[in-house]
Amino acid sequence: MNQSLSRLVRDAGDAVPITCVTPESWPRIEAALPGPQAAYARATDFAPKAGRIALLPAADGRLAGVLFGLGDGRDRLLAGKLPGALPPGSYRFAPSENVDPTDAALAWLLGSYRFGRYREAGAERPALAPSEGVDVEAVTRIAEAVALGRDLVNTPANDLGPAEIEAAIRAVAARHGADVAVVAGADLARDFPLVHTVGASSPRAPRLIDLTWGPADAPRVTLVGKGVAFDTGGLDIKPSSGMLLMKKDMGGSAAALAAADMVMGAGLNLRLRLIVPAVENAVSGEAFRPGDVIRSRAGLTVEIGNTDAEGRLILADALALADAEAPDLLVDFATLTGAARVALGPDLPAFFTEDEALAQAVSEAGLAVADPVWRLPLHEPYASLLDSKVADLNNVSGGPFAGAITAALFLRRFAPATRAHVHFDLYGWNPSTKPGRPEGGEVQTARLVHALLARRYPKV
Ligand code: BES
Ligand code: MN
Ligand code: ZN
Repeated sequence: MNQSLSRLVRDAGDAVPITCVTPESWPRIEAALPGPQAAYARATDFAPKAGRIALLPAADGRLAGVLFGLGDGRDRLLAGKLPGALPPGSYRFAPSENVDPTDAALAWLLGSYRFGRYREAGAERPALAPSEGVDVEAVTRIAEAVALGRDLVNTPANDLGPAEIEAAIRAVAARHGADVAVVAGADLARDFPLVHTVGASSPRAPRLIDLTWGPADAPRVTLVGKGVAFDTGGLDIKPSSGMLLMKKDMGGSAAALAAADMVMGAGLNLRLRLIVPAVENAVSGEAFRPGDVIRSRAGLTVEIGNTDAEGRLILADALALADAEAPDLLVDFATLTGAARVALGPDLPAFFTEDEALAQAVSEAGLAVADPVWRLPLHEPYASLLDSKVADLNNVSGGPFAGAITAALFLRRFAPATRAHVHFDLYGWNPSTKPGRPEGGEVQTARLVHALLARRYPKV
């Protein structure tokens, strides 16, 4: 079990029952409570609103049960509030038609996460005895993959550079018997010029990590994740406020790795490939410059309009590699633009695809597992905003408009052969704690992609 998570315990014997209540069920449940407990709930102003909690005393003062308000019941991860709010001990959910026991167990684990690398663990966390019928292994696998990804995002850049991103991928690969190839040094400079160019400013060497897993003749799914260990902006340096959180600029690779971990752990019927270009976008005499022109892996020449638009550069070469075999499905994950956050806020990653059926499936999978996303258009007429006077294209548009769309249009140029391509522009961070989503690093869209793939390519 990942140390960052609370425990699932098998024995529900003396576990304290948690009774979930909605505005409709509350009168009936209240009436059935022992008199003193009903009086206690009233005296402490309990109401069946979302996230409200009452700790009910037994006659001897011990904890007899917990009331948990569901409100309108729309937050599927609401139970993720409990592990941070309940005293240590074992709990179980009383059967209720208003809670899905699998959702509740997953939310519990996701909400129990904490990043403990640099501090003594705090108080012991409450444990959950999952309800009958919950696939404990499946839920645990998903929660552990999320915790792994969150740990990577939360780890500061002094302890997580390109080499450590590689090590993290190798560790996951070893657990699942996947193969890993890494391109670095002179080979990288020759074969992945944009990855090399962005990473050349840092003494921590850039690399292209390429994991494969599963039978060669199965449907081919390729995940690509932006692995910028830290984004200073390069010579187009960010102001301090914009740089503060940039350890999370490898959040795309963390989400892709978490999704890969879930897929391999579930043994889905597909051939998986995970490609991560890992670099640090630093400032030095070796740094690439505004105005530089680089010939990309795909052969397209790119004029550098802004060294802070580095994510699309390294992804361009990674996508060209992915596109060469035209996989059945290509998904890329990236903390790509501030513009996507301006449009949709931190909790709602943007996604782009030209495949209408795939767009529908992505939206539905997001809703199904409470990992929501929102589609933005690949508006073709904006492609000309990336025109360059000296090269095939510029890496930025000159103006302030539609930054997430122009970034997506830039990426699309590098994967022309793949018909089913989804691009996620995500934030990778919870600015404040919400149920199941503790403040800090988050692997947005990983559970969505796992759900999508589990539906398309179920284990045989
Ligand atoms: N990593 C940033 C984007 C980002 C910033 C994501 C803040 C989430 C939060 C990316 O490399 C970047 O700097 N993008 C620039 C692009 C611009 C120079 C065209 C941006 O969004 O400002
Ligand atoms: Mn940048
Ligand atoms: Zn970046």
